[in-house]
Amino acid sequence: MFSKILVAIDGSRAAKRAFARAIYLASKCDSRLELVHVVPCEFGGDSANTFDLVEGLKAKAKETLEQCERIAAKNNIPIRALSELGDPAKIIIEHAISNDCDLIVMGSRGRSAFKELLLGSVTLKVAHHAKCPVMVVR
Ligand SMILES: Nc1ncnc2c1ncn2[C@@H]1O[C@H](COP(=O)(O)OP(=O)(O)OP(=O)(O)O)[C@@H](O)[C@H]1O
Ligand SMILES: [Mg+2]
Repeated sequence: MFSKILVAIDGSRAAKRAFARAIYLASKCDSRLELVHVVPCEFGGDSANTFDLVEGLKAKAKETLEQCERIAAKNNIPIRALSELGDPAKIIIEHAISNDCDLIVMGSRGRSAFKELLLGSVTLKVAHHAKCPVMVVR
């Protein structure tokens, strides 16, 4: 049913739940997983502090992706994990198109402290503009 599933990962609990659902779906549908973790490039300036912040986020992203890769391997699910720098929604949407993903799985919320909204802005943008179905996991 779904041959290639993109899972959007940001290290949040909702994204972990989304990944768990994707593992389940992939095992039922014999799908491959494409994991995308975007380090947002919204930190202006090119100071040493900004550099340290981005490097720290990249290291954290790598750790999170490696954890997911281990879980996928245990479940015998083929997986490719990527960490990219840029605008999260734009990269997720473009990655899904250029890699022929037929489903995007993501959390309803992410790491933001503002919890009054039902859906985060990355999920909203992807749901509006993606060219394939989007599964939002609470
Ligand atoms: N940088 C990212 N890289 C990959 N996926 C992401 C990224 N940020 C968010 N996501 C995906 O989108 C889901 C919802 O996160 P989102 O960022 O939209 O909400 P939020 O952090 O609660 O609110 P906001 O960022 O709008 O203040 C996450 O569970 C994750 O699946
Ligand atoms: Mg967010």
